[in-house]
Amino acid sequence: MKMAAQGIPSTLPKGAPPVRHYLQFSDLNADEYAYLLERAAFIKAKFKTFTRHQPLVDRTLAMIFEKASTRTRVSFEAGMYQLGGSVVHLTTGDSQLGRAEPIEDSARVISRMADLVMIRTYEQTKIERFAEYSRVPVINGLTNEFHPCQILADIFTFIEHRGSIQGKTVAWVGDGNNMANTWLQAAELLDFKVNVSTPSGYEVDEKIASITGKISQRHFQTYSNPMDACRGADLVTTDVWTSMGFEAENEVRKQAFAAWRVSANMMAVAQANALFMHCLPAHRGEEVDADVIDGEQSVVWDEAENRMHVQKALMEFLLLGRLS
Ligand code: CP
Ligand code: NVA
Repeated sequence: MKMAAQGIPSTLPKGAPPVRHYLQFSDLNADEYAYLLERAAFIKAKFKTFTRHQPLVDRTLAMIFEKASTRTRVSFEAGMYQLGGSVVHLTTGDSQLGRAEPIEDSARVISRMADLVMIRTYEQTKIERFAEYSRVPVINGLTNEFHPCQILADIFTFIEHRGSIQGKTVAWVGDGNNMANTWLQAAELLDFKVNVSTPSGYEVDEKIASITGKISQRHFQTYSNPMDACRGADLVTTDVWTSMGFEAENEVRKQAFAAWRVSANMMAVAQANALFMHCLPAHRGEEVDADVIDGEQSVVWDEAENRMHVQKALMEFLLLGRLS
């Protein structure tokens, strides 16, 4: 867990909890995830019964988007308003971020006015540099390397439908990307297994994905054939073949990934009650067949909605710590 940069004089109120960032899944421990997942269920139940829950009145979330978004923007923005706070939305195009103001200066300034910062950007090092100079918690809303808020929502969704994920098997079919890396961090922390099948040349980089540097076979196994990765899995999941920032590779990737489309045949070799997830946006006929994503085993809409509930719990936790 990164702390605020040494030497930055604090104007935070006395007694405020130490600044904690959520830059990757490994920034919280298993015990904190147990709390957060329960808290998200509590917060979701309030929302579903139209019961006001506003612990963040007068607090402001700054959201910085250097890449496009639908779910992340709406879930953070709606969530913060529901918690009683407000939001400021910044993009590269409409702020000085796009005119080469140093990240360090942007962090110093924004974190004097906002109480929380969510950033969607390219390299993980950018968000790390921002966090180093921020007085307030910084949340990763997706980088090239990680997408921790999405995996938090996915695990919450799995638990809602099937109970504990500990000891279960997740099949990852497709690109060894930010989502795959984050699934692997979660597997190490929460003790489940990820079967990964990627085309050659698109493998997960274990140095990025692993918390410990080497993921044990209990948590990670690779398969050249996606059918083998899906065999016996409790959850089958995939993502776009071309992530944001890699658009120039689109045509080459379409060729390379053609056999990595999640199909009814792959679902058929998974557990009979296996779920299908996709962080969305999806391309039917590319990484997933329409009959799978629109089929009975798919929980993609719950997954999208749950972004909001888990992120509300996360924002509350980062600003106020554990509440009972
Ligand atoms: N899943 C996800 O992060 O969606 P957006 O890109 O729409 O935010
Ligand atoms: N891997 C995808 C996820 C989009 C939510 C990307 O980075 O574009």
